[in-house]
Amino acid sequence: MRASIAFLSFAVAATALNTPRNPHKKKPHAIDPKDFVYVDGLRLKDAKGLHYITGLNYWACLNLAADASQGGNYSRLVTELDQMAAHGVNHLRVMASSEGAPTPQPFRMNPPLMDAPGKYNEKVFRGLDICLDELSKRGIRATMTLNDEWQWSGGFAQYVSWANNNTAIPYPPSWNMTKAPQRPTPGTGWGNYSDTEDGAHTYNEYTTFANQIYTNQLAEQWYKDHIKTVITRKNTVNGKKYNEDATIMTWQLANEPQSLDSFNTSDPLFPWVDRISTYIRSLAPKQLISVGLESKQGEQIFKAVHKAPDVDYATTHCWVQNWGIYDMYNASEANLKVAQDFATAFVANTSRWARDVGKPVFLEEFGMARDNWENADKEYPYLSSASTTHKDAYFRTIIGAVMADFKKGGAYVGTCPWAYGGIWRPETQVMNEFGMVWAGDPPHESPGWYDLYDDDEAMNIVARQQKDVAAWIKRNSTHGY
Ligand SMILES: *[C@@H]1O[C@H](CO)[C@@H](O)[C@H](O)[C@H]1NC(C)=O
Ligand SMILES: *[C@@H]1O[C@H](CO)[C@@H](O)[C@H](O)[C@H]1NC(C)=O
Ligand SMILES: *[C@@H]1O[C@H](CO)[C@@H](O)[C@H](O)[C@H]1NC(C)=O
Ligand SMILES: *[C@@H]1O[C@H](CO)[C@@H](O)[C@H](O)[C@H]1NC(C)=O
Ligand SMILES: *[C@@H]1O[C@H](CO)[C@@H](O)[C@H](O)[C@H]1NC(C)=O
Ligand SMILES: *[C@@H]1O[C@H](CO)[C@@H](O)[C@H](O)[C@H]1NC(C)=O
Ligand SMILES: *[C@@H]1O[C@H](CO)[C@@H](O)[C@H](O)[C@H]1NC(C)=O
Ligand SMILES: *[C@@H]1O[C@H](CO)[C@@H](O)[C@H](O)[C@H]1NC(C)=O
Repeated sequence: MRASIAFLSFAVAATALNTPRNPHKKKPHAIDPKDFVYVDGLRLKDAKGLHYITGLNYWACLNLAADASQGGNYSRLVTELDQMAAHGVNHLRVMASSEGAPTPQPFRMNPPLMDAPGKYNEKVFRGLDICLDELSKRGIRATMTLNDEWQWSGGFAQYVSWANNNTAIPYPPSWNMTKAPQRPTPGTGWGNYSDTEDGAHTYNEYTTFANQIYTNQLAEQWYKDHIKTVITRKNTVNGKKYNEDATIMTWQLANEPQSLDSFNTSDPLFPWVDRISTYIRSLAPKQLISVGLESKQGEQIFKAVHKAPDVDYATTHCWVQNWGIYDMYNASEANLKVAQDFATAFVANTSRWARDVGKPVFLEEFGMARDNWENADKEYPYLSSASTTHKDAYFRTIIGAVMADFKKGGAYVGTCPWAYGGIWRPETQVMNEFGMVWAGDPPHESPGWYDLYDDDEAMNIVARQQKDVAAWIKRNSTHGY
């Protein structure tokens, strides 16, 4: 009955072209709370059959959905969720964690979900409830990320700091919005990366510090306590228990946990993945588990991490500029082609490794800057006015490679670009009272670098992917797949 009422309001909205958008029109596509996505061989399936993920990263969902007193903006949230749903997006990768400290810390999401071990900001937690409820209404499932290698949410380093009498975190170079150059209006940027003079450490010092989480028992106990608190929470908006809600497709151990520099059977990452995934399974038997590995360090580490029995599918992140393959100031076709060739090979290699492990694989992060050579002589290198010729061609290639792999029965099950900035733009940004601008780029990186805006061609590429794959699934299944 609910379905027919919802169908009626959909029909009314569709005919009343000049009336404001009916916020309930997405109801027919709402997720049945019992329709858990599951793994079948190298495929994901739901009640309708084969499930392909047309995803986007939207890590700040819990903060945007939180009360205005906590820096949230509900009107922006629903506008952007409607925009994504209208482009066929059926999955968002969001943070289900963020950590604070006794003294104010730079470069991270603020206010945090957890101020101190076991001490939660209920208003931000309610933001996560609202986020999940709004996703569910729009037929969008979630990956819930429970921790972070990097400083932008607190993450590993904050747990290690807590466990060591609040020792100082050796932050690597990170975007400092208040550093020179500054725009005339305070709090509107631009800033620059922190460097050694500002007290920045090397990436190696940072990861060595943060990765102590793999062996620190106190930090691990607090992390497991957090996992339990989130997974067993009851949503204050819709009353669903998190571990009984099919809107949550996946619990993810952490964003980009790092291994040792090269494969080493004694790497503490491997037993950590085993322990934490087994713990999550004991609390969330109906939902899936992924690690959040970038999978940038080759076949052996990929396989050692993803063979853990309670890890349901593999993850990959492909970062051509960060890994030194692509240069955002180089306008040449050759520069673009090197990136496209790398991405194609990366998808082919990781699909093969996943097939060897016998599990699906999800490309859950990739991005490319805008044509920022156009910004080289301007006041800020990441202005939204730059065109996106390279980015669009690159997105067509990497998303196309994943779709082709999926259609030929490979291990890939979907894509999830980084990251939706929606209506935000650097030109109009204003830091809120918590020092946040909530771009698609997290607070340790230059805002506007990898954002996908609501009017970007990349969103049409995402939408075409969903339509194309849906048509293929329909064709394929009519022949008895
Ligand atoms: C909230 O989002 C709306 C767009 O939906 C925007 O116009 C408004 O400026 C935002 N408010 C704040 C405080 O950022
Ligand atoms: C913890 O840090 C505080 C302040 O820096 C210091 O006074 C105290 O001695 C430290 N405690 C331990 C056990 O190291
Ligand atoms: C950010 O830059 C400002 C201005 O240069 C400086 O005072 C502050 O210490 C910097 N913060 C960090 C964490 O580097
Ligand atoms: C940031 O600082 C570096 C080194 O001083 C400089 O080369 C670069 O132009 C600065 N970036 C911006 C956006 O001003
Ligand atoms: C492997 O890791 C262990 C533990 O960190 C270390 O003691 C050992 O030297 C490493 N072996 C190699 C070959 O790097
Ligand atoms: C641009 O990239 C291409 C391909 O990597 C390279 O051959 C060329 O030298 C680069 N040009 C500049 C100016 O860096
Ligand atoms: C893919 O695998 C081949 C063969 O193992 C290797 O030479 C190549 O560097 C890999 N490429 C990428 C992008 O992973
Ligand atoms: C459906 O897709 C699978 C995997 O690509 C393929 O093996 C099969 O032949 C397809 N069936 C039809 C009828 O297209």
